[in-house]
Amino acid sequence: MRLLVIGTGSIGERHLRVFQHLDRCDAIAFCETHPERRAEIARRYGIPDAFAYTDLDTALSKGTYDIAVIATPAPTHLGIGMQLADLGIHQLMEKPLSLSLDGVESYARSIAEKNLTVAVGYVHRAHPAVSAIRREIASGRFGKVLTVSISTGQSFAQLRPAYRDVYFAKPELGGGAINDMITHMYNVGDWFAGPVSRLVTDAAHQALDGVTVEDTVHTLTRHESGAMGTYTLNLYQHPNEVLMTVVCERGTLRADYPKQRWSWMTDPNGAWHHEPVSVPDRDTIYQIQNAAFLDAVEGFGEVLCPLEDAIRTLKVNLASHRSAGGSGWENLLT
Ligand SMILES: NC(=O)c1ccc[n+]([C@@H]2O[C@H](COP(=O)([O-])OP(=O)(O)OC[C@H]3O[C@@H](n4cnc5c(N)ncnc54)[C@H](O)[C@@H]3O)[C@@H](O)[C@H]2O)c1
Repeated sequence: MRLLVIGTGSIGERHLRVFQHLDRCDAIAFCETHPERRAEIARRYGIPDAFAYTDLDTALSKGTYDIAVIATPAPTHLGIGMQLADLGIHQLMEKPLSLSLDGVESYARSIAEKNLTVAVGYVHRAHPAVSAIRREIASGRFGKVLTVSISTGQSFAQLRPAYRDVYFAKPELGGGAINDMITHMYNVGDWFAGPVSRLVTDAAHQALDGVTVEDTVHTLTRHESGAMGTYTLNLYQHPNEVLMTVVCERGTLRADYPKQRWSWMTDPNGAWHHEPVSVPDRDTIYQIQNAAFLDAVEGFGEVLCPLEDAIRTLKVNLASHRSAGGSGWENLLT
């Protein structure tokens, strides 16, 4: 398995490190257009100069690859994905898939025609508390999902000090809390309750220094199943928290990231049953996601977020932006 990582900024570096840790690739090369960053990554991860390319075309002309990670800013994802599809390369594509629907259909067609594996980096599906809840919902034990509430916040300035200087500050590069952050939660909501049929979003810039993009998002959803959803996110609260509550016909499920557990309750006023999960560091969920991608490429197992799910999430992102812009409730049913 020969791997090419395209773009080694914040997340591309993490992917490179995670694939080194998984130790399932015969060779790892990368391309990075920024010269200092390229040298830094090659040095830090012991990648020979001959495998540290200046750009994608050079990397593709000088090497052959089975799999690639696309970790560049969002507007470039589909173009790079098409180039790789033409060469028959399986792809781990970072989220969001794109910033518009332009080219999505032809990309999906090309992937299907070539029978390629695509995993999209909606990595919260790899969190063991989230996958446990999804498993319980799918088992039918708790009955139909009635409501999903996801509440999340973090001190982004501390977690991503360079936020002013990267794509996050620029809507046209995929910046702002809708495309960059709450999209992860929309994707999890779709995994729990199925496709969104309509939504309304309120979003604003409230506090984050040095940028004007939205740092606060509140979205209400209705899903095709009838389930109702609430999603809230801010990028300045002090605790780094993700709390998900799924109320079903026969019980309630909860994922609590800071407490590293998922929980369930089936009796009114009964006790919570807590199930611990192990997420020792920030690489853990990427290791789970990327191992699933390798399994799928090798023909056993499935990717955690297939292309069709990421296309639905892209439509939710776009509807959320339109709604936040003042259009009110947005209908996603075609
Ligand atoms: N799934 C996650 O948890 C997660 C986390 C962070 C970012 N992301 C997503 O990953 C993508 C990248 O985010 P980031 O935070 O790493 O951004 P970044 O700005 O830190 O890094 C992007 C890197 O790509 C390089 N680059 C740009 N165009 C290139 C090209 N054509 N060829 C080679 N290199 C190129 C840049 O020089 C830069 O080093 C975005 O779509 C973002 O939304 C996902």
